[in-house]
Amino acid sequence: MKTSQVWRLGMGDMQILPVARHRPPSKRPTWIIVLVSMVSLFLVCAYIYPPQSRNACYVFSSRGCQVLTDWLPPAPTRELTDEEIASRVVIREILSASLTPTKNAKIAFMFLTPGPLPFEKLWDKFFSGHEDRFSVYVHASKEKPVHVSRYFVNQDIHSDQVIWGKISMIDAERRLLANALRDPDNQHFVLLSDSCVPLYKFDYIYNYLMFTNISYVDRFYDPGPHGNGRYSEHMLPEVEMKDFSKGAQWFSMKRQHAVMVLADSLYYSKFRDYCKPGLEGKNCIADEHYLPTFFHIVDPGGIANWSVTHVDWSERKWHPKLYRSQDVTYDLLRNITVGLSSYLRVSFRIGTAIGVFSESLVYHWHSSLKFFVDTAEWK
Ligand SMILES: *[C@@H]1O[C@H](CO)[C@@H](O)[C@H](O)[C@H]1NC(C)=O
Ligand SMILES: *[C@@H]1O[C@H](CO)[C@@H](O)[C@H](O)[C@H]1NC(C)=O
Ligand SMILES: *[C@@H]1O[C@H](CO)[C@@H](O)[C@H](O)[C@H]1NC(C)=O
Repeated sequence: MKTSQVWRLGMGDMQILPVARHRPPSKRPTWIIVLVSMVSLFLVCAYIYPPQSRNACYVFSSRGCQVLTDWLPPAPTRELTDEEIASRVVIREILSASLTPTKNAKIAFMFLTPGPLPFEKLWDKFFSGHEDRFSVYVHASKEKPVHVSRYFVNQDIHSDQVIWGKISMIDAERRLLANALRDPDNQHFVLLSDSCVPLYKFDYIYNYLMFTNISYVDRFYDPGPHGNGRYSEHMLPEVEMKDFSKGAQWFSMKRQHAVMVLADSLYYSKFRDYCKPGLEGKNCIADEHYLPTFFHIVDPGGIANWSVTHVDWSERKWHPKLYRSQDVTYDLLRNITVGLSSYLRVSFRIGTAIGVFSESLVYHWHSSLKFFVDTAEWK
Protein backbone atom coordinates (compact mmCIF):
# COMPACT_ATOMS: atom_id res chain seq x y z
CA MET A 1 0.00 0.00 0.00
CA LYS A 2 2.62 2.47 1.17
CA THR A 3 4.99 1.51 -1.63
CA SER A 4 2.44 2.10 -4.34
CA GLN A 5 1.91 5.62 -2.98
CA VAL A 6 5.63 6.16 -2.84
CA TRP A 7 5.90 4.83 -6.35
CA ARG A 8 3.16 7.12 -7.68
CA LEU A 9 4.75 10.06 -5.94
CA GLY A 10 7.99 9.17 -7.65
CA MET A 11 6.26 9.09 -11.05
CA GLY A 12 4.56 12.43 -10.43
CA ASP A 13 7.79 14.11 -9.40
CA MET A 14 9.43 12.75 -12.50
CA GLN A 15 7.43 15.16 -14.67
CA ILE A 16 8.81 18.20 -12.90
CA LEU A 17 12.31 16.85 -12.57
CA PRO A 18 14.76 19.58 -13.40
CA VAL A 19 17.57 17.15 -14.17
CA ALA A 20 16.82 16.54 -17.84
CA ARG A 21 15.48 19.98 -18.53
CA HIS A 22 18.43 22.16 -17.57
CA ARG A 23 21.08 20.00 -19.02
CA PRO A 24 22.33 20.49 -22.52
CA PRO A 25 20.89 17.88 -24.81
CA SER A 26 22.75 14.71 -24.13
CA LYS A 27 24.02 12.20 -26.59
CA ARG A 28 23.14 9.38 -24.19
CA PRO A 29 19.69 7.92 -24.60
CA THR A 30 17.30 9.72 -22.25
CA TRP A 31 15.88 6.44 -21.01
CA ILE A 32 19.07 5.76 -19.05
CA ILE A 33 18.75 9.13 -17.28
CA VAL A 34 15.08 8.51 -16.64
CA LEU A 35 15.81 5.06 -15.27
CA VAL A 36 18.65 6.25 -13.05
CA SER A 37 16.58 9.10 -11.64
CA MET A 38 13.65 6.78 -11.03
CA VAL A 39 15.83 4.39 -9.12
CA SER A 40 17.41 7.14 -7.04
CA LEU A 41 14.01 8.69 -6.38
CA PHE A 42 12.75 5.35 -5.21
CA LEU A 43 15.69 4.95 -2.88
CA VAL A 44 15.19 8.45 -1.50
CA CYS A 45 11.49 7.77 -0.98
CA ALA A 46 12.24 4.42 0.56
CA TYR A 47 14.49 6.13 3.04
CA ILE A 48 11.99 8.85 3.89
CA TYR A 49 9.22 6.29 4.24
CA PRO A 50 11.00 3.23 5.63
CA PRO A 51 9.05 0.07 4.79
CA GLN A 52 6.56 -0.55 7.61
CA SER A 53 5.98 -4.16 6.80
CA ARG A 54 7.33 -6.95 4.67
CA ASN A 55 4.59 -6.23 2.07
CA ALA A 56 6.30 -2.97 1.24
CA CYS A 57 9.12 -4.88 -0.37
CA TYR A 58 7.25 -6.57 -3.17
CA VAL A 59 8.88 -4.33 -5.78
CA PHE A 60 12.05 -6.34 -5.38
CA SER A 61 12.47 -10.03 -5.04
CA SER A 62 12.71 -11.07 -1.38
CA ARG A 63 16.48 -11.42 -1.79
CA GLY A 64 16.76 -7.99 -3.34
CA CYS A 65 14.61 -6.65 -0.54
CA GLN A 66 17.00 -8.06 2.03
CA VAL A 67 19.91 -6.42 0.22
CA LEU A 68 18.02 -3.13 0.19
CA THR A 69 17.19 -3.21 3.90
CA ASP A 70 20.77 -4.16 4.74
CA TRP A 71 22.08 -1.30 2.69
CA LEU A 72 19.76 1.36 4.10
CA PRO A 73 20.56 2.89 7.49
CA PRO A 74 18.45 1.35 10.29
CA ALA A 75 14.97 2.83 10.69
CA PRO A 76 15.02 5.56 13.32
CA THR A 77 13.99 4.25 16.76
CA ARG A 78 10.51 5.15 17.85
CA GLU A 79 10.00 8.14 20.08
CA LEU A 80 8.94 6.97 23.55
CA THR A 81 5.47 7.91 24.77
CA ASP A 82 5.08 9.99 27.94
CA GLU A 83 3.87 6.92 29.84
CA GLU A 84 6.86 4.91 28.65
CA ILE A 85 9.35 7.54 29.77
CA ALA A 86 7.71 7.66 33.20
CA SER A 87 7.63 3.87 33.43
CA ARG A 88 11.31 3.49 32.48
CA VAL A 89 12.41 6.05 35.03
CA VAL A 90 10.47 4.35 37.82
CA ILE A 91 11.78 0.92 36.86
CA ARG A 92 15.39 2.11 36.62
CA GLU A 93 15.13 3.65 40.07
CA ILE A 94 13.70 0.44 41.55
CA LEU A 95 16.35 -1.75 39.93
CA SER A 96 19.25 0.46 40.99
CA ALA A 97 18.04 0.96 44.56
CA SER A 98 20.28 -1.08 46.82
CA LEU A 99 18.35 -3.51 48.92
CA THR A 100 18.93 -3.08 52.61
CA PRO A 101 19.77 -6.59 53.73
CA THR A 102 17.56 -7.69 56.59
CA LYS A 103 18.90 -9.89 59.35
CA ASN A 104 15.95 -12.15 58.98
CA ALA A 105 15.46 -12.71 55.23
CA LYS A 106 12.30 -14.67 54.51
CA ILE A 107 10.60 -16.28 51.54
CA ALA A 108 6.93 -15.46 51.02
CA PHE A 109 4.86 -18.44 49.92
CA MET A 110 1.72 -17.06 48.28
CA PHE A 111 -1.12 -19.47 47.67
CA LEU A 112 -3.65 -18.56 44.98
CA THR A 113 -6.58 -20.92 45.46
CA PRO A 114 -10.33 -21.04 44.87
CA GLY A 115 -10.95 -22.68 48.25
CA PRO A 116 -9.43 -25.27 50.61
CA LEU A 117 -5.79 -26.29 50.36
CA PRO A 118 -5.71 -30.09 50.18
CA PHE A 119 -1.96 -30.30 50.73
CA GLU A 120 -1.78 -28.00 53.71
CA LYS A 121 -0.55 -30.78 56.01
CA LEU A 122 2.26 -31.52 53.62
CA TRP A 123 3.32 -27.88 53.53
CA ASP A 124 3.11 -27.85 57.33
CA LYS A 125 5.69 -30.62 57.43
CA PHE A 126 7.82 -28.76 54.91
CA PHE A 127 7.76 -25.51 56.94
CA SER A 128 8.20 -27.12 60.33
CA GLY A 129 11.45 -26.14 62.05
CA HIS A 130 12.08 -23.11 59.83
CA GLU A 131 9.71 -20.74 61.61
CA ASP A 132 11.58 -17.48 61.17
CA ARG A 133 12.52 -17.90 57.52
CA PHE A 134 9.21 -17.91 55.66
CA SER A 135 5.78 -16.35 55.59
CA VAL A 136 2.51 -17.61 54.16
CA TYR A 137 -0.28 -15.71 52.38
CA VAL A 138 -3.52 -17.21 51.10
CA HIS A 139 -5.83 -15.64 48.51
CA ALA A 140 -8.98 -17.76 48.39
CA SER A 141 -11.23 -16.42 45.65
CA LYS A 142 -14.35 -18.53 46.21
CA GLU A 143 -14.54 -20.17 49.58
CA LYS A 144 -12.66 -19.38 52.76
CA PRO A 145 -10.52 -22.41 53.63
CA VAL A 146 -10.60 -24.04 57.04
CA HIS A 147 -6.94 -24.28 57.95
CA VAL A 148 -5.40 -27.30 59.63
CA SER A 149 -1.84 -26.01 59.87
CA ARG A 150 -0.76 -23.37 62.37
CA TYR A 151 1.34 -21.76 59.64
CA PHE A 152 -1.79 -21.05 57.60
CA VAL A 153 -4.16 -19.88 60.33
CA ASN A 154 -4.88 -16.13 60.02
CA GLN A 155 -2.86 -15.86 56.84
CA ASP A 156 -5.84 -15.28 54.53
CA ILE A 157 -5.63 -11.90 52.85
CA HIS A 158 -8.56 -9.85 51.60
CA SER A 159 -9.65 -11.70 48.43
CA ASP A 160 -11.85 -11.09 45.45
CA GLN A 161 -13.42 -13.12 42.67
CA VAL A 162 -11.04 -14.56 40.08
CA ILE A 163 -12.24 -15.34 36.57
CA TRP A 164 -10.09 -17.70 34.55
CA GLY A 165 -8.18 -15.94 31.78
CA LYS A 166 -9.20 -12.45 32.87
CA ILE A 167 -7.25 -9.66 34.49
CA SER A 168 -8.82 -10.53 37.86
CA MET A 169 -6.21 -13.32 37.99
CA ILE A 170 -3.43 -10.71 37.76
CA ASP A 171 -5.27 -8.56 40.32
CA ALA A 172 -5.19 -11.46 42.76
CA GLU A 173 -1.44 -11.94 42.15
CA ARG A 174 -0.85 -8.22 42.75
CA ARG A 175 -2.93 -8.38 45.93
CA LEU A 176 -0.75 -11.24 47.19
CA LEU A 177 2.45 -9.37 46.30
CA ALA A 178 1.24 -6.17 47.97
CA ASN A 179 0.41 -7.97 51.20
CA ALA A 180 3.67 -9.91 51.18
CA LEU A 181 5.70 -6.74 50.49
CA ARG A 182 4.36 -5.18 53.69
CA ASP A 183 6.84 -7.36 55.54
CA PRO A 184 10.31 -5.91 54.82
CA ASP A 185 11.91 -9.26 55.66
CA ASN A 186 10.32 -10.95 52.65
CA GLN A 187 12.99 -11.09 49.92
CA HIS A 188 11.58 -13.64 47.52
CA PHE A 189 7.96 -14.22 46.52
CA VAL A 190 6.73 -17.60 45.30
CA LEU A 191 3.29 -17.98 43.72
CA LEU A 192 1.71 -21.39 44.26
CA SER A 193 -1.65 -22.99 43.59
CA ASP A 194 -3.77 -25.32 45.69
CA SER A 195 -2.44 -28.24 43.66
CA CYS A 196 1.24 -27.56 44.34
CA VAL A 197 3.30 -29.83 46.54
CA PRO A 198 6.90 -29.20 47.62
CA LEU A 199 9.57 -31.33 45.99
CA TYR A 200 12.65 -30.45 48.03
CA LYS A 201 13.44 -29.80 51.63
CA PHE A 202 13.03 -26.30 52.96
CA ASP A 203 16.75 -25.51 53.31
CA TYR A 204 17.52 -26.44 49.76
CA ILE A 205 14.76 -24.22 48.34
CA TYR A 206 15.57 -21.37 50.72
CA ASN A 207 19.25 -21.32 49.80
CA TYR A 208 18.60 -21.69 46.11
CA LEU A 209 16.20 -18.75 45.95
CA MET A 210 17.97 -16.53 48.44
CA PHE A 211 21.36 -16.74 46.80
CA THR A 212 20.33 -16.08 43.24
CA ASN A 213 19.63 -12.57 42.10
CA ILE A 214 17.15 -13.36 39.35
CA SER A 215 13.44 -14.08 39.26
CA TYR A 216 12.08 -17.34 37.97
CA VAL A 217 9.51 -16.10 35.50
CA ASP A 218 8.77 -18.44 32.62
CA ARG A 219 9.06 -16.76 29.22
CA PHE A 220 9.23 -17.90 25.62
CA TYR A 221 8.38 -16.60 22.18
CA ASP A 222 5.51 -18.39 20.50
CA PRO A 223 4.79 -17.33 16.91
CA GLY A 224 1.77 -19.68 16.72
CA PRO A 225 -1.96 -19.07 17.23
CA HIS A 226 -1.75 -19.55 21.01
CA GLY A 227 1.12 -17.06 21.26
CA ASN A 228 1.36 -14.16 18.83
CA GLY A 229 -2.07 -15.12 17.48
CA ARG A 230 -3.50 -13.62 20.69
CA TYR A 231 -1.71 -10.31 20.25
CA SER A 232 -3.80 -7.19 19.61
CA GLU A 233 -2.45 -4.16 17.77
CA HIS A 234 -4.30 -1.99 20.27
CA MET A 235 -1.30 -2.62 22.53
CA LEU A 236 0.87 -0.49 20.25
CA PRO A 237 3.07 1.47 20.44
CA GLU A 238 4.40 0.26 23.81
CA VAL A 239 3.89 -3.46 23.30
CA GLU A 240 5.08 -4.65 19.91
CA MET A 241 4.34 -8.10 18.54
CA LYS A 242 8.05 -9.03 18.73
CA ASP A 243 7.98 -8.51 22.51
CA PHE A 244 4.68 -10.30 23.12
CA SER A 245 5.69 -13.34 25.13
CA LYS A 246 4.17 -16.37 26.75
CA GLY A 247 4.91 -18.36 29.88
CA ALA A 248 3.48 -20.30 32.80
CA GLN A 249 1.62 -18.25 35.40
CA TRP A 250 3.53 -19.60 38.44
CA PHE A 251 6.55 -17.54 39.36
CA SER A 252 9.14 -16.84 41.99
CA MET A 253 10.22 -13.21 42.16
CA LYS A 254 12.88 -11.17 43.92
CA ARG A 255 11.76 -8.17 45.94
CA GLN A 256 12.66 -5.48 43.39
CA HIS A 257 10.67 -7.27 40.72
CA ALA A 258 7.69 -7.58 43.03
CA VAL A 259 7.80 -3.81 43.60
CA MET A 260 8.04 -3.27 39.83
CA VAL A 261 4.89 -5.30 39.25
CA LEU A 262 2.99 -3.14 41.73
CA ALA A 263 4.42 0.06 40.23
CA ASP A 264 3.40 -0.83 36.69
CA SER A 265 0.23 0.70 35.33
CA LEU A 266 1.21 1.20 31.68
CA TYR A 267 1.64 -2.44 30.63
CA TYR A 268 -0.94 -3.66 33.12
CA SER A 269 -3.65 -1.48 31.54
CA LYS A 270 -2.75 -2.69 28.03
CA PHE A 271 -3.28 -6.28 29.10
CA ARG A 272 -6.40 -5.42 31.12
CA ASP A 273 -8.02 -3.81 28.10
CA TYR A 274 -6.71 -5.85 25.17
CA CYS A 275 -5.85 -9.33 26.45
CA LYS A 276 -8.96 -11.24 27.49
CA PRO A 277 -10.95 -14.25 26.34
CA GLY A 278 -13.22 -13.52 23.38
CA LEU A 279 -11.79 -10.11 22.43
CA GLU A 280 -11.65 -9.69 18.61
CA GLY A 281 -12.30 -13.42 18.27
CA LYS A 282 -9.10 -14.27 20.17
CA ASN A 283 -8.65 -15.99 23.49
CA CYS A 284 -5.94 -13.99 25.13
CA ILE A 285 -5.20 -15.23 28.65
CA ALA A 286 -3.71 -12.33 30.61
CA ASP A 287 -1.90 -14.46 33.20
CA GLU A 288 0.00 -16.33 30.46
CA HIS A 289 1.23 -13.15 28.76
CA TYR A 290 1.37 -10.13 31.03
CA LEU A 291 4.34 -10.90 33.29
CA PRO A 292 6.48 -12.64 30.61
CA THR A 293 5.95 -9.70 28.24
CA PHE A 294 6.42 -7.07 30.95
CA PHE A 295 9.75 -8.49 32.14
CA HIS A 296 10.93 -9.15 28.62
CA ILE A 297 10.49 -5.45 27.86
CA VAL A 298 11.74 -3.88 31.10
CA ASP A 299 14.38 -6.30 32.45
CA PRO A 300 15.04 -9.25 30.09
CA GLY A 301 18.31 -10.24 31.78
CA GLY A 302 16.68 -10.30 35.21
CA ILE A 303 14.50 -13.36 34.63
CA ALA A 304 15.48 -16.99 34.23
CA ASN A 305 12.89 -17.66 31.50
CA TRP A 306 11.71 -20.79 33.30
CA SER A 307 9.53 -21.39 36.31
CA VAL A 308 10.24 -23.23 39.54
CA THR A 309 6.91 -25.00 39.29
CA HIS A 310 6.81 -28.20 37.29
CA VAL A 311 3.81 -28.76 35.06
CA ASP A 312 3.43 -31.35 32.33
CA TRP A 313 1.98 -29.81 29.15
CA SER A 314 2.97 -32.74 26.93
CA GLU A 315 -0.66 -33.72 26.31
CA ARG A 316 -1.14 -30.37 24.56
CA LYS A 317 -4.59 -29.67 26.01
CA TRP A 318 -6.12 -26.58 27.60
CA HIS A 319 -5.01 -27.79 31.02
CA PRO A 320 -1.81 -29.56 32.06
CA LYS A 321 -1.63 -33.27 32.70
CA LEU A 322 -3.66 -34.36 35.67
CA TYR A 323 -1.94 -36.88 37.92
CA ARG A 324 -4.11 -39.55 39.53
CA SER A 325 -3.20 -41.63 42.58
CA GLN A 326 -1.75 -44.47 40.57
CA ASP A 327 0.52 -42.04 38.65
CA VAL A 328 2.25 -40.81 41.77
CA THR A 329 5.15 -43.18 41.96
CA TYR A 330 8.68 -43.01 43.22
CA ASP A 331 9.79 -43.12 39.58
CA LEU A 332 7.75 -40.09 38.69
CA LEU A 333 9.08 -38.02 41.58
CA ARG A 334 12.61 -39.12 40.81
CA ASN A 335 12.17 -38.14 37.17
CA ILE A 336 10.92 -34.70 38.09
CA THR A 337 13.58 -33.89 40.66
CA VAL A 338 16.70 -35.81 39.74
CA GLY A 339 15.97 -35.89 36.01
CA LEU A 340 15.61 -32.15 35.87
CA SER A 341 18.40 -31.44 38.29
CA SER A 342 19.55 -28.38 36.37
CA TYR A 343 16.24 -26.82 37.33
CA LEU A 344 15.00 -26.28 40.81
CA ARG A 345 11.42 -27.35 41.00
CA VAL A 346 10.03 -25.95 44.19
CA SER A 347 6.76 -27.59 43.67
CA PHE A 348 4.76 -29.77 41.44
CA ARG A 349 1.26 -29.10 40.24
CA ILE A 350 -0.94 -32.12 40.30
CA GLY A 351 -3.65 -30.66 38.11
CA THR A 352 -5.80 -27.63 37.72
CA ALA A 353 -9.36 -28.89 37.81
CA ILE A 354 -11.17 -28.12 41.01
CA GLY A 355 -12.30 -30.99 43.18
CA VAL A 356 -9.87 -33.55 41.89
CA PHE A 357 -8.25 -34.07 45.24
CA SER A 358 -9.67 -37.32 46.42
CA GLU A 359 -8.70 -38.50 49.89
CA SER A 360 -6.73 -41.30 48.36
CA LEU A 361 -4.74 -38.98 46.11
CA VAL A 362 -3.84 -36.72 48.98
CA TYR A 363 -2.93 -39.72 51.15
CA HIS A 364 -0.83 -41.12 48.33
CA TRP A 365 1.10 -37.90 47.96
CA HIS A 366 1.74 -37.73 51.65
CA SER A 367 3.13 -41.23 51.77
CA SER A 368 5.15 -40.86 48.55
CA LEU A 369 6.71 -37.67 49.76
CA LYS A 370 7.27 -39.03 53.23
CA PHE A 371 9.34 -41.71 51.59
CA PHE A 372 11.23 -39.00 49.73
CA VAL A 373 11.79 -37.01 52.91
CA ASP A 374 13.16 -40.06 54.65
CA THR A 375 15.64 -40.87 51.94
CA ALA A 376 18.57 -38.84 50.76
CA GLU A 377 16.79 -38.30 47.46
CA TRP A 378 14.77 -35.49 48.92
CA LYS A 379 17.49 -32.89 49.14
C1 LIG B 1 23.63 -11.37 39.37
O1 LIG B 1 24.92 -11.50 39.97
C2 LIG B 1 25.97 -11.74 39.06
C3 LIG B 1 27.26 -11.92 39.84
O2 LIG B 1 27.04 -12.19 41.16
C4 LIG B 1 26.07 -10.58 38.09
O3 LIG B 1 27.08 -10.85 37.13
C5 LIG B 1 24.74 -10.39 37.37
O4 LIG B 1 24.80 -9.26 36.53
C6 LIG B 1 23.63 -10.21 38.38
N1 LIG B 1 22.37 -10.16 37.65
C7 LIG B 1 21.38 -9.30 37.96
C8 LIG B 1 20.16 -9.41 37.12
O5 LIG B 1 21.46 -8.51 38.87
C1 LIG C 1 16.18 -14.86 29.26
O1 LIG C 1 15.94 -14.51 27.90
C2 LIG C 1 16.40 -13.21 27.54
C3 LIG C 1 16.02 -12.99 26.10
O2 LIG C 1 14.67 -12.95 25.97
C4 LIG C 1 17.89 -13.10 27.73
O3 LIG C 1 18.31 -11.79 27.44
C5 LIG C 1 18.24 -13.45 29.16
O4 LIG C 1 19.62 -13.46 29.33
C6 LIG C 1 17.67 -14.82 29.53
N1 LIG C 1 17.92 -15.08 30.95
C7 LIG C 1 18.86 -15.92 31.37
C8 LIG C 1 19.04 -16.02 32.85
O5 LIG C 1 19.54 -16.59 30.61
C1 LIG D 1 10.94 -41.78 34.04
O1 LIG D 1 11.92 -41.54 33.05
C2 LIG D 1 12.27 -42.68 32.31
C3 LIG D 1 13.41 -42.33 31.39
O2 LIG D 1 13.15 -41.19 30.66
C4 LIG D 1 11.04 -43.18 31.54
O3 LIG D 1 11.34 -44.33 30.79
C5 LIG D 1 9.93 -43.49 32.55
O4 LIG D 1 8.75 -43.85 31.86
C6 LIG D 1 9.66 -42.29 33.43
N1 LIG D 1 8.72 -42.68 34.46
C7 LIG D 1 7.69 -41.94 34.82
C8 LIG D 1 6.76 -42.51 35.84
O5 LIG D 1 7.49 -40.83 34.35
